Amino acid sequence: MKPLVYIAHPRLDRSEISGPLFDVAGQTEGVTCVDLYGEYPTFEIDVAREQRRLVDHDAIVFLHPIYWYSAPAIVREWQDLVLEHGFAYGKHGHALDGKVTLNAVSCGALESSYRPEGGNGAYLRDLLAPFEKTADLCGMRYLAPFAIYGAGRAVEEARRGDHVAAWRGLLTALRDDRLDIPAARAARTLNDIAASHAAAPETA
Ligand SMILES: Cc1cc2nc3c(=O)[nH]c(=O)nc-3n(C[C@H](O)[C@H](O)[C@H](O)COP(=O)(O)O)c2cc1C
Repeated sequence: MKPLVYIAHPRLDRSEISGPLFDVAGQTEGVTCVDLYGEYPTFEIDVAREQRRLVDHDAIVFLHPIYWYSAPAIVREWQDLVLEHGFAYGKHGHALDGKVTLNAVSCGALESSYRPEGGNGAYLRDLLAPFEKTADLCGMRYLAPFAIYGAGRAVEEARRGDHVAAWRGLLTALRDDRLDIPAARAARTLNDIAASHAAAPETA
């Protein structure tokens, strides 16, 4: 598959998680990377260009921090403009049929908070339902989210390296058609699946 990674972070220069993950995507052969805030700082999205990008790729990844249980605003603007009737949905809108899509997100809250009994009262995947339903409507195959919880403490807890390795494993598995798509669609998160594709640590 040809993966396309969109990053949506309004302050990429200050990002401890999304930024490094975007850098890794950029270093991964065969992966196309687009910085939405970088390209469209005034939200004037080039719809034709974005639609061409979608047509040219088969795995569409939105990499972003969770803001207010959702994505930063430019992702919503992108959806409103790019996913046009007759292109993405509707009787003659089949450009996205069968493509794979997922959210790769960093969350301030802990994993224990993203549970029905936790502070957020629901699993992350369930809170991201608008993305899943949008993908369904557009004939795309929505995968479970890849999630980094407790993002603000990942560096001091020395977890970022493992997250990066899992992310790289996920991207290369997608690219090389090694990802078990039915399992990735059925899972609550992609975290374990991604970790299973992470390269073993190098030994001296
Ligand atoms: C405007 C705003 C809204 C946020 N909303 C949430 C939220 O709903 N849930 C959550 O877990 N974290 C929330 N956060 C925390 C961010 O998700 C967290 O800072 C980010 O994932 C850290 O990743 P980064 O280093 O790549 O920016 C919010 C942060 C901001 C600035």
